[in-house]
Amino acid sequence: MKVVAINGSPRKGGNTEIMLRKVLEPIGQAAIETELIQIGGENIHGCRACLQCRKNQNRRCAYDDDILNGLLERLFEADGIVLGSPTYYADMTPEMKAFIDRVGYVAGANGRLLKRKVGAAVTVSRRGGATHAFDSMNHLFQISGMIMPGSTYWNFGLAKEKGEVLKDEEAMANMQDLGETIAWLIKKLN
Ligand SMILES: Cc1cc2nc3c(=O)[nH]c(=O)nc-3n(C[C@H](O)[C@H](O)[C@H](O)COP(=O)(O)O)c2cc1C
Repeated sequence: MKVVAINGSPRKGGNTEIMLRKVLEPIGQAAIETELIQIGGENIHGCRACLQCRKNQNRRCAYDDDILNGLLERLFEADGIVLGSPTYYADMTPEMKAFIDRVGYVAGANGRLLKRKVGAAVTVSRRGGATHAFDSMNHLFQISGMIMPGSTYWNFGLAKEKGEVLKDEEAMANMQDLGETIAWLIKKLN
């Protein structure tokens, strides 16, 4: 059993990463393998709409010129995926959007490879737009036939400077609760 968390923030060690690590903590404690993958600030481009993934059906994107293909099998093997992005202009970061579009298309082209995996999204904003960013990421789970666990609130933190989210006790408790429920759910499904 494995859960993969994707950090869409270019700010390594920032608020998104802190929240993702908090979600992974109880999952690891439940003896489920965890991995955090950095995509924010990395070389990842958007879908080029060539639709070759539908023809090739080889579980890969036809463009081998960035980090995506190196991540795909880790995702397809995982039981759960946690997406994390800071809120940028009331939405996810461009790296996360590029990731979602291409993962979604490759998975769909190869027999719905994400179906019945557990999926959750977390975001952090200074002030506004978190609901929209959160909803945007959840779209991948819904269209892919994934199972979305709830928590105690929507999965947001409020913070601006690096590390500030640790002071948002409600958000951190929410991350803990989310992680516990993901672990519980994955064990039930297995
Ligand atoms: C380009 C950019 C756009 C942002 N847009 C918003 C926004 O729409 N709403 C908001 O509340 N905060 C916004 N922020 C603030 C970040 O969401 C906030 O600083 C967050 O804690 C960053 O998380 P990180 O440490 O994981 O990168 C923006 C920050 C940047 C750099």
